Amino acid sequence: METDALPLPATTVCVTGASGFIGSWLVMRLLQRGYIVRATVRNPENKQKVKHLLELPRADTNLTLWKADMTVEGSFDEAIHGCEGVFHVATPMDFESKDPENEVIKPTIEGFLSLIRSCTKAKTVKRIVFTSSAGTVNVEEHQKSVYDETDYSDLNFIYSKKMTGWMYFASKILAEKVAWEAAKENNIGFISIIPTLVVGPFIMPTFPPSLITALSPITGNEAHYSIIDQCQYVHLDDLCEAHIFLYEYPNAEGRYICSSHDATIYDVAKMIRDKWPKYDIPTEFEGIDMDIPVVSFSSKKLIGMGFTFKYSLEDMYTGAIETCREKGLLPYSTNNQVNREKKELLLNYEEISWTLIKRSCLQLERKNIPMDK
Ligand SMILES: NC(=O)c1ccc[n+]([C@@H]2O[C@H](COP(=O)([O-])OP(=O)(O)OC[C@H]3O[C@@H](n4cnc5c(N)ncnc54)[C@H](OP(=O)(O)O)[C@@H]3O)[C@@H](O)[C@H]2O)c1
Ligand SMILES: *[C@@H]1O[C@H](CO)[C@@H](O)[C@H](O)[C@H]1NC(C)=O
Repeated sequence: METDALPLPATTVCVTGASGFIGSWLVMRLLQRGYIVRATVRNPENKQKVKHLLELPRADTNLTLWKADMTVEGSFDEAIHGCEGVFHVATPMDFESKDPENEVIKPTIEGFLSLIRSCTKAKTVKRIVFTSSAGTVNVEEHQKSVYDETDYSDLNFIYSKKMTGWMYFASKILAEKVAWEAAKENNIGFISIIPTLVVGPFIMPTFPPSLITALSPITGNEAHYSIIDQCQYVHLDDLCEAHIFLYEYPNAEGRYICSSHDATIYDVAKMIRDKWPKYDIPTEFEGIDMDIPVVSFSSKKLIGMGFTFKYSLEDMYTGAIETCREKGLLPYSTNNQVNREKKELLLNYEEISWTLIKRSCLQLERKNIPMDK
């Protein structure tokens, strides 16, 4: 798909959440492939949030921006009217939400149902491709060694444990289920792509939410360690190519896991430490066993259709770290060796000066000179 082949006749598709990490890269690839793209964002007037879309090759002729919000009924009507395909990438993703039911779960479900009503009204939509989440598959008390499309997360466990990101997992599970039913009822093809943790270079201007998790060993964001203790990964470009591959694949239907690598937090920490020694990466993660087993996600179904993954885990981190550095979102080094040596020097210096002070006090005492003079 590196070629700029134009599918004929030009097909119009809609991408929701188009300004985001996955959405913007997908828009770029769709334009390159020759699609006419309608990108939805909540605020097209926000130049900072849409500039990277408007600057894409072919954007001036083949891309339009549309205002749409999942919390507003009928919001997607206009953008979807006349489209053949819809890539539903948008999702509210605030892990720190004070009101997760109303700010995350409800809008994810209601927004998706409203979007399907827009597709039904349009009468032109043949397929919806939903960007689901690994959170719909393996969030349960005991991890299996391999997961596939037949697995579903344990909602009771999620609601009782309320782990980091629980409202997001719940929202994706419930949305996928109800949307699938609704699409079937309305005779619209439904494909659900299940990416694991998405890492790679990116074009959005701000720090991508999934990199808060993926780069947590560098930034020291401990709340996210539990998400990557036994984690699976996919490169952003592989994921977007898989979206297009499945959209174009005749009779594709149902769930497709899209994941190329499995690693524990210790594997990832070691890789980062070896490749980027200027980052001070923990060697131990509290509460996570050193010999914790790898949990894998099987992309057999997708690969069996002829899809190939192009990138390694190292490619993902190289792309992510380099892009973050270029955009000024990540320092080139954290508490590195140089700083550590400086710190040691400082400590030594303090010890020395303290000894000197004590010594001079002793001398003063000996000379019977009052110390406060
Ligand atoms: N990144 C990963 O590792 C990963 C893994 C598995 C699944 N996914 C899924 O991939 C999708 C995209 O995630 P991402 O990583 O690209 O995150 P992202 O950069 O935060 O993109 C999500 C987009 O959703 C839009 N959005 C949020 N609330 C909305 C609302 N109420 N109405 C309309 N749009 C709304 C935002 O667009 P505006 O603010 O511009 O309107 C935002 O750009 C999500 O569905 C997520 O569940 C991601
Ligand atoms: C899409 O872009 C190509 C090349 O930039 C152009 O030739 C074509 O007319 C555009 N299609 C539409 C529908 O505007």
